[in-house]
Amino acid sequence: MSGSAVAWSDRAALLGDDLIAVRRQLHRFPELSFEERETARLVADRLTRLGLTCRTGFGGHGVVADIVGAAAGPTIALRADMGALPIAEETGLPFASGRPGAMHACGHDAPTAMLLGAAELLVQNRSSLKGTVRLIFQSAEEINEGAKAMIREGVLDGVDEIYGLHNLPTLSAGLASVRPGPLMGSVDRIEIEVVGKGAHGAIPDQGIDPIVCASAIVMSLQSLVSRETSPFDPVVVTIGSIRGGDANNVIPSVCSMTGTVRAFDPVVRDRLPEGIERIVTRIADGYRCRASVNYIRQMQVLVNHPEAARRVGEAIDAVAGPGRRLEAAPTLAGEDFSEYLKHVPGCFFWLGSGPAEHAEQAFGLHHPRFELNEACLPLGAALLAGIAARRLEEGPLASDAPAEGGGAK
Ligand code: NI
Repeated sequence: MSGSAVAWSDRAALLGDDLIAVRRQLHRFPELSFEERETARLVADRLTRLGLTCRTGFGGHGVVADIVGAAAGPTIALRADMGALPIAEETGLPFASGRPGAMHACGHDAPTAMLLGAAELLVQNRSSLKGTVRLIFQSAEEINEGAKAMIREGVLDGVDEIYGLHNLPTLSAGLASVRPGPLMGSVDRIEIEVVGKGAHGAIPDQGIDPIVCASAIVMSLQSLVSRETSPFDPVVVTIGSIRGGDANNVIPSVCSMTGTVRAFDPVVRDRLPEGIERIVTRIADGYRCRASVNYIRQMQVLVNHPEAARRVGEAIDAVAGPGRRLEAAPTLAGEDFSEYLKHVPGCFFWLGSGPAEHAEQAFGLHHPRFELNEACLPLGAALLAGIAARRLEEGPLASDAPAEGGGAK
């Protein structure tokens, strides 16, 4: 095992220039969620050239291909997301986005290139694979819809485990981090409508002011975090938009708001809709308004299977070398990889894509000046290939391991 582990990174290093070229091509032509036509075509072309049979148009523009090993065995899935963000790029790089208002600001050009590299490594190594590796190139991650769409269309049929990675600009290239149990937060959307009664701005007693009521609701919602949730349980309630009224001297009849709700513990998350509904409707009562809440559950907490996370940690040690693995810090950002983990065990981890020095000061994901240290590309390809091959070799994970297990090491 250790001999082949060394070979993954050595062989991936040979692909380095090609991975950079693919990544830059994708970076130059970013495509937004459910619009990844050309990206999908590039992916399918390259997989076809490797001799693989592709299924395209999967859950949007997803591309799926199986690498069937010489021996029968389980199916391990590897997933990369392909979509870009509606952000105007400000990096000034020679291969910066050529599409106004679209940018690979979450760096999904990187996992796409890495998984293509992993595919090449695994195809070269097909004769020693003890089972099947399913390659999943997913569209529409950024709007939380792509994974659900692919699962609905059966992408997990026959899959035993799933693995994926995300680049992290605040971690130096060459490093990776993982943790068992919860890694990323749940993502929910709230839409609140407060209905009052319009009036002249100078004669408030003739109306019912929904803006004053909405202001009280915004402030009071924070008590859900500070007074109803343990300080040891991270929760965020952010009202991100408020709309009400058109004139400075008119009390409008309606004020509407949207917000995002994040949590890190599925049990804590399940309590939040009731609390938000209660605060919104009863504050509205106190202000003589009527209010309604539309609570939309978008994504569950991303929970890594403890043993899968341990196996990924071992693969990082073997492929990247000793001392290259860190314990990942939890974050309330979301990733729809969590949808796959609802159905099959697996693990999502961070791959450093930042500068060698002072990575913590790098521009973060979703920033218009986000940059990727391309030195991370071969390691990402080697890790994905290595994890899949090792998992085929190692045998099944222990079943029914607790979702929130102990340490990763
Ligand atoms: Ni992302």
